Amino acid sequence: MENKTSKVCGVSFNIVNELPQKVTNKLIRTVKTMKDSDYQGFEEVETILHYISGGVCGKIYDLGGDFILKINEFSWNDNTYDGDILRDLQGIPLIPKVYWYSDDNRFIVIQKINGRTVRDYFQSPFILKKQWVHIAFKEIAEKTVSMCLKRGWIVNDMHSGNCMIDYSGEFWIVDVGLFKKTGNHDYLAEHNLIELISESERIEVCNNMMAEAI
Ligand SMILES: Nc1ncnc2c1ncn2[C@@H]1O[C@H](COP(=O)(O)OP(=O)(O)O)[C@@H](O)[C@H]1O
Ligand SMILES: [Mg+2]
Repeated sequence: MENKTSKVCGVSFNIVNELPQKVTNKLIRTVKTMKDSDYQGFEEVETILHYISGGVCGKIYDLGGDFILKINEFSWNDNTYDGDILRDLQGIPLIPKVYWYSDDNRFIVIQKINGRTVRDYFQSPFILKKQWVHIAFKEIAEKTVSMCLKRGWIVNDMHSGNCMIDYSGEFWIVDVGLFKKTGNHDYLAEHNLIELISESERIEVCNNMMAEAI
């Protein structure tokens, strides 16, 4: 695979998909702000980008257009490699596109999903543009699980805050940070192999929740 890279204020980025110049400029300003503040400058970032949400591992900002920026906050026992994982899984159903991400996986530009997390959807549902077809979703979810596995990844952590439904009614897995690497041959395999069956069960639970709600 072609491996395009770029340096932003001394930070190495992998370019999986190209970004519009306007978006790249905002990314550059943000990386500079974070670097200059020794990665503490989240408040300042909010003067550049609109804050969307804060998860366990990082903060999500709107980069404008169809792009979001995830900034991971690392701690000694808690590194996630969303960028590397997303790159491996490009083209698989339910997986968003990744654009630029830094080598250390601190900065990751991802396709923006216009919709709500499954959790928020349950609290305040919106009318879907197309009917939810339980059986069709189950098939796609199973395809996603098996395609991820073929590429060496086990779907994991698919709770309702990590899945979204967009306004057209499509389902997305927005947080792949805790997907698990099969085998234990590299640094991404720190989270051990888990039973695949539990993953199918998780998907089934998610699926049933969706089917009940719609
Ligand atoms: N691609 C995306 N498009 C739109 N919103 C997103 C996207 N990714 C994440 N979010 C929002 O940000 C929240 C936290 O993102 P997540 O990746 O789960 O962070 P964490 O790794 O900290 O759990 C999600 O619950 C969702 O509301
Ligand atoms: Mg999450």
